[in-house]
Amino acid sequence: MAIIRNGIALTMFLTLHGALGFGSISRHAAIGAASRRHLITAFSTAEAAAASSASEKKDGPIKNDQAYANLKMEEIVSLCKRRGIIFPSSEIYNGFAGFFDYGPLGSELKRNVKDAFWKAFVHEREDVVGIDSSIIHNPTTWKSSGHLDGFSDPMVDCRETKLRYRADQLYCSPVVLEECGSTVGFVCVLEGNDEDMVKEAKAQANRLLKEKEKKGAIQPFQFKDLTQVTEEEMAQIPSPGSNKPTLTMPRDFNLMFQTNVGAMQDASSVAYLRPETAQGIFINYKNVLASSRIKLPFGIAQIGKAFRNEITPRNFIFRSREFEQMEIEYFIPPGDEDVWKPYHEKWIADSKAFLEQVGLREELMGYDVHEGDGLAHYARACTDITFKFPFGVQELMGIAARGDFDLKSHSEGSGKVLDYFDEETKEKFIPHVIEPSLGVDRLILALICSAYAEDEINGEKRSYLSFHPSIAPVKVAVLPLVKNKEPLVKAARELYEKLKKRWNVQWDQTGAIGRRYRRADEVGVPFCVTVDFETIESDGAVTVRDRDSTEQVRIPMDEVVPYLSKMIDGY
Ligand code: GAP
Repeated sequence: MAIIRNGIALTMFLTLHGALGFGSISRHAAIGAASRRHLITAFSTAEAAAASSASEKKDGPIKNDQAYANLKMEEIVSLCKRRGIIFPSSEIYNGFAGFFDYGPLGSELKRNVKDAFWKAFVHEREDVVGIDSSIIHNPTTWKSSGHLDGFSDPMVDCRETKLRYRADQLYCSPVVLEECGSTVGFVCVLEGNDEDMVKEAKAQANRLLKEKEKKGAIQPFQFKDLTQVTEEEMAQIPSPGSNKPTLTMPRDFNLMFQTNVGAMQDASSVAYLRPETAQGIFINYKNVLASSRIKLPFGIAQIGKAFRNEITPRNFIFRSREFEQMEIEYFIPPGDEDVWKPYHEKWIADSKAFLEQVGLREELMGYDVHEGDGLAHYARACTDITFKFPFGVQELMGIAARGDFDLKSHSEGSGKVLDYFDEETKEKFIPHVIEPSLGVDRLILALICSAYAEDEINGEKRSYLSFHPSIAPVKVAVLPLVKNKEPLVKAARELYEKLKKRWNVQWDQTGAIGRRYRRADEVGVPFCVTVDFETIESDGAVTVRDRDSTEQVRIPMDEVVPYLSKMIDGY
């Protein structure tokens, strides 16, 4: 059955995303092959496999597509907890909705993701500098930015269960009998992937038909979200909590967290935890301009925490109440489409290239171009890069052309001049801005989903995370083949000490080598280095195993660092 949401057939929407999606790549594999050709000097793959006690036979290609199609969010959540990537916050006190803690591996992953962003957009560019502003700004900031008056989501309350929902995430549809065209009542389901929504709607429709003692086929559901319903319709729409029409009409709910600054707890001490990092950039525009030698066009980047009192935090770290953002305000000369559009398009292309570079599978990404009502009143354009999460295609990052709205508003609100003097033209003006904005946590979820893979080794199912080496939490596992031969363990230990000066490296000497490989695979360690008898007795070389292909190569000890360096850091 086709889903119609807000009058648009969802199947069409998804096809559109698919059509605009990017072609397929195998960048990682290509880099790997090239570097290997360059660096392997001593032994062939076959010799290496023979030298290792665990030769593996990988059956068929990585079954990413099938594995991903079957993947449920619960499996991701469970894997993250089991392996120390992400835990529910305050779990010993039964958790705290919308908050999460990153464990030993998750904190490494997060650090790598942020470093990759900073490297790509600040260090490797001459036109972007970074800042790290305070989280709490002078509260007038939020008046000027429009957040105090307008940063809200529409919510509906269930009068009976007291549960609160985001009105734009609840979808209702009339249940209409095919034969006579009469409406029996309404169904109301939470936003989710098409299949789940239709399944739940069908179940509700069946209950409704039974209740009303009606029979017969029904027309396809015509979904619209609850911001678009009339009072008359709302009086018939069942609340997901009570199954009765007990929902209020939508009201605006401001998402900013309030706090008080100083000893007094009155209206004069109210301040806000920043709901985005962007405003910290705008209020520092003048300082950065005065203290750096940058010239238009230039960008200011910031990575940091943001807080939103989300009505319905959902889908694990996809929408949480405390998260991190990586944002850039890229200041450009004022002008019409011919001025801002090329910058906007370039930032979309650069953002996509970055997402690919950190390992997002291209075929899971797409674009969502905002138009008409979907665009803020001041915005010239906004394009989201979307990702196909297990719960549906959703925004991953946004790239907006915001005109001069922000600097102008802060100039008016503060009474300070926030313009730019062009030395060449001798003109003064308020620059316009392009804003790429990406959630760290949302990207991490996309990276975990993207990396999830399954295949068979020696006839046994293997599930692993095929993280790109640059963001993998642990880059290398050093494995002494046995743990009771001192010279062998010593050689392995020396290599481990050397490698850990450069990367986050794991030491693992327990269990059969095949088991150790599997342990490393599950958390996405891209390379296992095995020190064996040959290492100490004859060739002074080690076996380096590639996680994805399970291919093993034999490399002289003193070439291990340059080899891994090329594979992990790309140079
Ligand atoms: N300065 C623009 C801005 O904040 P946004 O679309 O509200 O725009 C930008 O947020 C990005 O921040 C989103 O694309 C998403 O990656 C991330 N993000 C927003 N709200 C989030 C939340 N509640 N939890 C996790 N990530 C979130």
